[in-house]
Amino acid sequence: MTAQKILVTGGAGYIGSHACVALLEAGYDVVVVDNLSNSRAESLARVKTITGKTLTLVLADIRDKQALTEIFSEHKIYAVMHFAGLKAVGESCVQPIRYYQNNVYGTLVLTEVMQEFAVKKMIFSSSATVYGEPDTVKYSEDLPVFGATNPYGKSKAMIEDILRDLSTADVLTKASHPWEIILLRYFNPMGAHQSGLIGEDPNGIPNNLVPYVSQVAVGKLAQLSVFGGDYPTIDGTGVRDYIHVVDLVKGHLAALKALDDSSLNIRCKAYNLGAGKGYSVLQIIAAFERVTGKTINYKIVERRSGDVAENYADPGLALRELNWKTEKNLDDMVEDTWRWQSQNPNGYH
Ligand code: NAD
Ligand code: UFG
Repeated sequence: MTAQKILVTGGAGYIGSHACVALLEAGYDVVVVDNLSNSRAESLARVKTITGKTLTLVLADIRDKQALTEIFSEHKIYAVMHFAGLKAVGESCVQPIRYYQNNVYGTLVLTEVMQEFAVKKMIFSSSATVYGEPDTVKYSEDLPVFGATNPYGKSKAMIEDILRDLSTADVLTKASHPWEIILLRYFNPMGAHQSGLIGEDPNGIPNNLVPYVSQVAVGKLAQLSVFGGDYPTIDGTGVRDYIHVVDLVKGHLAALKALDDSSLNIRCKAYNLGAGKGYSVLQIIAAFERVTGKTINYKIVERRSGDVAENYADPGLALRELNWKTEKNLDDMVEDTWRWQSQNPNGYH
């Protein structure tokens, strides 16, 4: 039997490169399309080292319709894992056109070409940010999703809407071969492949907690600013649901399988990918100190605007329907982050 071929958009990036490893190890063939706007091809060279398998990298932008058409003409694609997108919340507030252009328009071009080639299975990288600021700290999929507070988050909510509309159109036209789409709402991905060969390689000074703390631990940055010490949480600092990137990509493989489960009959459905448990900033710092044996220099400063005090996933739906749950704990996440960071203090550079 020939292997099913998966198109991975944004496959050279942090999560996409881990997805490539998981797909290759599970026996899929992989074609990556990436414009390397936030990544390096070296990540995929390392994917080959880890798996001992090859993949195809097409250097192109998903907004380039001709390039996508060539990919679908040349390769018999079974399904698309759609990771390509810009993801910096603060940057999206000052460059909204760029974010909507890249994320929303890029997805429109991609889905248009998929439809032309009758490839209608997609796993989309959404985000817990689509929930905005609900009145609860435990987010379940039945909460409304119109509260994103920044252009990045809004672009994810808009894409979710577009994908739902594609599915509705199939119902209206009684399409014989309808779209089958899973929207995966990630909580806070961290960690790296156990080999230490691939991991998160942010450009410049990191905006997110985990890459920042690990760069303090490795001595590249002097001090972490903890944004807010007076939240109504366990110790006053922000609480988030951290999920190991390897668990996260296993959720994508589970989603791919679920599309073939006729009892689920998925047309367009959202699932949370999270652990269902939150950790505070101070708990993350303590875990880094425990695992690395280093002291993390930090200072509590003003709250960061747009942050909520606490959130974590209700991961029950993914367990019931995708048969997926996280397997790794906080120490695993920190150990793997640290192995990547200490072996590659300058990332892929
Ligand atoms: P990343 O920046 O490491 O990877 C994204 C990849 O997409 C990069 O390789 C980049 O070069 C590529 N890309 C961007 N725009 C492109 C375009 N127009 N055409 C072709 N390639 C393009 O980010 P990541 O952390 O791996 O995130 C992957 C996806 O998951 C993104 O859609 C992101 O919004 C989403 N997500 C990430 C997080 C997180 O905290 N990392 C949380 C929730 C959701
Ligand atoms: N934090 C600090 N100092 C820092 C960075 C972060 O104290 O230097 C705190 C934040 O205030 C927050 C926690 O650490 O309490 C986590 O912050 P991150 O920036 O790491 O993550 P967010 O929860 O703000 O957002 C992340 C991604 C979004 C995504 C969201 C939900 O950045 O893209 O998770 O998936 F939408």
